[in-house]
Amino acid sequence: MSKILVTGGAGFIGSHTAVELISSGFTPIIVDNFCNSRPSVIQRIETITNQNLVSYNLDCTDEIALRQVFNDHPDLQGAIHFAAFKAVGESVQSPLKYYHNNINSLLVLTRLMNEFNVRNLVFSSSCTVYGQPEILPVTEATEMQEAQSPYGFTKQVCERLLSDLSTGEYNQVSSVLLRYFNPIGAHPSGLIGELPLGVPENLIPYITQTAAGLRDSLTVFGQDYSTSDGTCVRDYIHVVDLAKAHVKALRYLAENDKMCKAFNLGTGTGNTVLEVIQTFEKVSGVKLSYAMGERRPGDVEQIYASADKANRELQWKTELSLEDALTDAWNWQLKLEETGTTAD
Ligand code: NAD
Ligand code: WQD
Repeated sequence: MSKILVTGGAGFIGSHTAVELISSGFTPIIVDNFCNSRPSVIQRIETITNQNLVSYNLDCTDEIALRQVFNDHPDLQGAIHFAAFKAVGESVQSPLKYYHNNINSLLVLTRLMNEFNVRNLVFSSSCTVYGQPEILPVTEATEMQEAQSPYGFTKQVCERLLSDLSTGEYNQVSSVLLRYFNPIGAHPSGLIGELPLGVPENLIPYITQTAAGLRDSLTVFGQDYSTSDGTCVRDYIHVVDLAKAHVKALRYLAENDKMCKAFNLGTGTGNTVLEVIQTFEKVSGVKLSYAMGERRPGDVEQIYASADKANRELQWKTELSLEDALTDAWNWQLKLEETGTTAD
C-alpha cells in the first residue's frame, strides 16, 4: 500500500481525494491545521471508506512539525499538496497572509521531500493562472497573463518554483501541476463537501445556502457580457471527478522520468450563471430567489478548459454531469441542515 502525504487533506478537494486514494489502494497520511476545515472531516472520510486514517494537526509552514511526519513515515511514495488559502477577494485585502501560507508551505514541503528522497508531487494549481485567455477552450500551452490577485500570483510562483526544481541537478522533485477549473459538488454520501466559513464567495455554495433559506437572494454578477445570455461562463467540474485525477497523476509520476507538467482539469464545457441556476432549480425542485446585479470586479467573462492533454496522458476524463454535481451539492446542503453541521 503506497503511502501518500496529503497536505490539506481535510479540505474540500483533499477530503474527496483521500476517499479516492483509499479506494484505489493508497494510504493517505493527512496533514491539516484545520484553518479552513473541521477535524470531524477525518471521521467522515473513515466512515465512507471504512478505514482508519493517520492524520496530523499541524501547519505545513512549520518545518520542524512537518519533518516529524517524514520521520514517522520513511516509506512515503509521494505527496499531494492542497494546503493553501484560496479566497481570491481576501488575498487582495491580505496579500502577505497568502504569500506566507501558499508559498512557504510549498517551500517547506519540497525541502523535506528532497531531504527524505520523496520524489513525486501533485500540486493544486488553478485556472486562475490563465487570466482571460483570448482563445477558448484554454489549453496548457496558453500563455499565462499577469495574475489578477495575490492568490493567483501564489499559484504562478508555485508552478515556477516546481518547474525550477524539476530541472535542477540537486533537486529531485518531479511534479504534476493540476489546474482546476471550477470544482463543485460533494460526495454522493452527503458526508463530505464544501463548507465555506461565513458568507460564501463562490456561486454554488451561495446558491445552495439561498435555496436552504440561509441567504435571502443570490445576486448574479453581470448580465451584459458577450455570452449567450449575458452572464459569465465557467467550466464546473464535479469534485469526485477532480479527486480521481489525483490518483491518475500519482500513477503518471511513478511511471515517468522527472518532470514538471501541467494539466487542465475541467469538463471541456462552459456554462453560464443562468444555466447553472436553471439546472439547480430542475434537480432540486426549488425556485431560487435571485436578482441580476453589477459585474463583480476581477471576473473574467468566460473560461473553460480543453482537458485533452489530461484525457490523453493521464487517461482521465470526467464522468459526472453538471446535474450530478448540483444534485450532490444540494444533498450535502440538506444533510448539513439535518445535522446542524455548521460549526462542529
Ligand atoms: P480548502 O480550504 O477546503 O482546503 C484546504 C485545506 O488546507 C483546509 O483543510 C485547510 O485547513 C488546510 N490548510 C491551509 N493552510 C494550511 C497549512 N499551512 N497547513 C496545514 N493545513 C493547511 O480548499 P480546497 O477548495 O480544497 O482547495 C485545495 C487546493 O486547491 C488549494 O491549494 C486551492 O488553492 C486549490 N484550488 C481550489 C479551487 C476551488 O475552487 N476550490 C480551485 C482551484 C484551485
Ligand atoms: C463563478 C461565477 C461569478 C457568486 C474562483 C476563483 C478561481 C478558482 C475557482 C481557486 C462567476 C458568478 C458568483 C455570486 C455570481 N479558485 N457568481 N454570484 O470566480 O470563477 O473562480 O473559484 O483557484 O481562482 O477565482 O468562481 O464560484 O466565485 O464564480 O453571479 O454570488 O458565478 O461572477 O461568473 P470563479 P465563483
